[in-house]
Parts: sequence; structure tokens; C-alpha cells
Amino acid sequence: MDPNTSGLEQKLAEAGQSHLLQFWKELSPKEQQNLFQELQGLDFQEINVFFKNAMETSSNSKHEKMDGRMEPVPRDVLGSVTRDRESLKDWEVKGLDCISQSKVAVLLLAGGQGTRLGVSYPKGMYDVGLPSHKTLFQIQAERIVKLQQLAEQKTSVKCCIPWYIMTSGRTMDSTKDFFSQHQYFGLGKDNVVFFQQGMLPAMDYGGKIILENKGKLSMAPDGNGGLYRALGNQGILDDMQRRGVEFIHVYCVDNILVKVADPTFIGFCVQKGADCGAKVVEKTNPTEAVGVVCKVDGLYQVVEYSEITLATAEKRSSDGRLMFNAGNVANHFFSFSFLRDVVQKYEPQLQHHVAQKKIPCVNAEGQLIKPEKPNGIKMEKFVFDIFQFAKTFVVYEVLREDEFSPLKNADTQDGKDTPTTARHALMSLHHRWVLNAGGHFIDENGRRVPAIPRDGAGGTDDNLKDGTDLPIKCEISPLVSYAGEGLEALVKGREFQATLMIDERGVHELVKNGV
Ligand code: UD1
Repeated sequence: MDPNTSGLEQKLAEAGQSHLLQFWKELSPKEQQNLFQELQGLDFQEINVFFKNAMETSSNSKHEKMDGRMEPVPRDVLGSVTRDRESLKDWEVKGLDCISQSKVAVLLLAGGQGTRLGVSYPKGMYDVGLPSHKTLFQIQAERIVKLQQLAEQKTSVKCCIPWYIMTSGRTMDSTKDFFSQHQYFGLGKDNVVFFQQGMLPAMDYGGKIILENKGKLSMAPDGNGGLYRALGNQGILDDMQRRGVEFIHVYCVDNILVKVADPTFIGFCVQKGADCGAKVVEKTNPTEAVGVVCKVDGLYQVVEYSEITLATAEKRSSDGRLMFNAGNVANHFFSFSFLRDVVQKYEPQLQHHVAQKKIPCVNAEGQLIKPEKPNGIKMEKFVFDIFQFAKTFVVYEVLREDEFSPLKNADTQDGKDTPTTARHALMSLHHRWVLNAGGHFIDENGRRVPAIPRDGAGGTDDNLKDGTDLPIKCEISPLVSYAGEGLEALVKGREFQATLMIDERGVHELVKNGV
């Protein structure tokens, strides 16, 4: 473990990173061992190349205007739950058919650090305060269980949707323990496969790796596009191939409404012969900070709001909708063969994006510093950067109130994408499911509560704040209904008083029963 005799010192000197051993002599034997191991595991030449390329790309893109090179998604690659109603059933049948043949897998991106939410544990373990207190992981797991059942009912053949969960160095152990403690939420242990994405060091603007303290590098996950490298080097592609997986639904952990392995989305993509697809919601507010799916120089890409001018963001088509309105909800479809090509051929071509950050560090004098302005960068690849390699790319537009409510931030008074907005979005959706299935809600005086208009579901931030449009408390277990189906027998013609919970044990009105 001697940095000199082991060749580590020389390796660092060649890469211009000798400062990483600056405090070596001050470290305890244990700290020395940890640092030694950390440094031995890194390829400094490669990291230096990543840094150089990322900085170059980032400084070029600062001077370039995206606007003139962007085109909206053409109608012929677009499927829409509102504009293609007549095809939805066919797509769903196709998707369920693929699921029933065990050709569909889901892949969860859960390697993020949840910094904005401010919790120290993985975001999937978060309880947004639903009546059931289910976590995001449990909700997603139960949707998979239900979908397997729905597909099996169609064919009477047992099927399986393998669930691949990407974690990072920081989230792996706690994620695995959580699933094990909860018996994999009813899924087969062998069909929940954890794998770990890579980490990269934070760098200062001169390309020097930042030390978090005297004996430790400042490391962060390499972005959700780190997926592709991990799929190859963790044997996940091989596992998919062994299982005969042909289609993969990739999604982010934070969307409480996510339709995991959505059969309609999958069926749409498969029927269009797509190798890659993206689910979007209509962006209606030009300043909403979501990326938009569009073409740039003829290739599909997600362009972040910060990359275009307000004038372009505000442009409207003849039908009055925003011209660039395909808001990315981070739900993607890949064919297995496309994914394999990406991992084997295209991944090395992807450049890291640069995020300027305030990175706590130790300075040359050995003092710990908490910078007040950005002092360095983190490098990340993005999951959607591979759209450009697709031969047949499709876009599927869904309703925001049915499918998209991400949990990004902690609760604040007028917060956006918080535990409260996520909880309300789910309960509003389930309320509408009950109404659509012929059930009714009554208030404490026995009067029918008027049905809320569809697009008012969940309320605006303002009226949520003063409590005038709180959703009816209603939660339906995914084990009972995946997307609103199968509820008539339970609710049709009946009146309920909130809190209503429907789960595999039956229909419960928590207030009436004094629970
Ligand atoms: C992401 C999308 C954005 C979209 C928005 C919708 C990307 C790069 N951006 O933005 O276009 O409009 O969601 O909610 O996809 N993750 C990892 N490893 C990492 C970093 C993140 O697995 O190294 C995972 C997170 O756990 C999370 C997901 O990727 O599930 C999204 O990460 P986040 O940083 O929250 O992305 P956003 O900036 O919100």
C-alpha cells in the first residue's frame, strides 16, 4: 500500500493529479488504505480526457444558438392519448401481448442523490404521506405485480416483467436492504436485479480532482446516462438476453404517477417498429423548466429550457399550442437490439455535460472550505443523449394529470414538485377513477361532492396553498387497479365518504370507521 512502490505516485504525476497525495502522511493507516483503494480504482488518463471534452463541448454550446437549428417533433412520429383515441385499445393489447410473452423489462434510474429533496436515503424510499404510507418503490413494485397479473389473465400463461434497478455507490446498500426487508413487495427476488452506475470525481476549473477531505475524493454518480456503461460492465445486457427481453421501459424514480411498463406506450412503440421512444406531456407554459423533445440538425434530442431563448420557447403553431411542447417526462422505450448497439458502439461517443457546483473541499492548506459560489464541475451523461442514434424514433404524448407528478423538492409553502403535490396528484387521479367507474363521494352532511373538472385536478399551486381545492382523500392500491380498470364491481352506484381506500382486502372508508 505504498503509493511510491506501487506505481500510484507515478500514475498520478503523469496525470497531473499528484496533489491527491498531498496529505498522505497526515492520514491514519485506515484512512491511507481507503484513499489508496479509491485512487487505485480510477483511470486518471480517461478522467482527464472526459474533463477536456466536456469543457470544450460546454464552452462551444455557450456560444451556439440552438434556436435556429430546432424543429418540432413531426406529427407522423407522434402518438397521443387524446388525438389517437381510436388506436389506444390496439396498442394496449399489443403491449399486454408482449408482456405476457415475458419480452418486456423495466429499468429504473435510481442513482440520483436526491439533493433537492434533502433526504439522506434513496428517493424511492420516500413516503409522501398517502393514507397507506406506501413509498415510491412500493407503488412501482405493486404496479408491476398487477400488470403481470393482467397479462396472465389474458393468456393464462405465467409471465414475468424483470425489474432492473440502477443505483449508485451511495444508494446501493440501502436500496437492496429496503427491498429485502419488504420481501421485494411481492415480486420474485430473482426478478429484481440491482446494478450500480459509475462515479466520477468532481474537478476544479483547471482539471484538478477535488479532495472532499484530506483522505477522500469528492465523487458523484456519472449522470443517468451512466446507465449505458453500467449495462455493459455489470452484465445486465447479458442478463436481459438470457431472459429473452426484447423491449425495455426506462424511467425515473421520482414520478409518483409513472405507469411502469405501460402496455399502451410499449404497444405503440412496437407497432411503429421503433427502436427508441420518449413519453412526453404537453408543455403549456413557455417558461416551465422542462426539457423538450425535438429535432436539432435533423436528429432527435432533448433541449433544456436554458438552451433556448424565450422567443423560441414562446413560439406557437397555427393551432395555438406551443411549437416546442413535447415536455420530457423521462420515460423512454428501447428495443433490446438498440440498447445493445448503444452499449457496444455509441456510448463512448457521448460527451459528459458540465454542471457547475459549489463543491465542499479541502484547500492546499488543509482547511475545509464550503464555497459560496461554484468552484468546480461535476460531469454527467444524460439518458436521452442516445436518441440521436435511433433509426426509428417515436414520441408518445400523455396527459400530465394522469401520468406525471415528479417529486423533486422538499415541501415549502408554494412549492412545485413536492411531497404534497405528488400526494395530491395521486389522490386526484384515483378520485377520478372512482367517478369514472360510477362511484360518488359525499361530504360529512351526506351531500354529493361535485365532480371536479378533469383539468383542475390537484388544484393550482395557489388554491392548494389556501386549502380551497384540496383533493378528496382517495387511494387505490395498484394491486387492485393498474390504470383505473376493474373498479366498477367495487364502486358503481355507491357513495363514499373520504378517506376512501381500496386495497386487496376490500373497500374502506377510514373516517366512517373512525380509523
Ligand atoms: C429529468 C430529465 C428532464 C425531465 C425531468 C422530468 C434527465 C437528464 N433530465 O430531469 O429532461 O424533464 O427529469 O422529471 O433525465 N439519476 C441517476 N443517476 C444519476 C443522476 C440521476 O440514476 O447520476 C436518476 C435519478 O435518480 C432520477 C432521474 O435520474 O430518477 C432524474 O434525475 P434528476 O436529476 O432528478 O433529473 P431532472 O433534472 O429532474
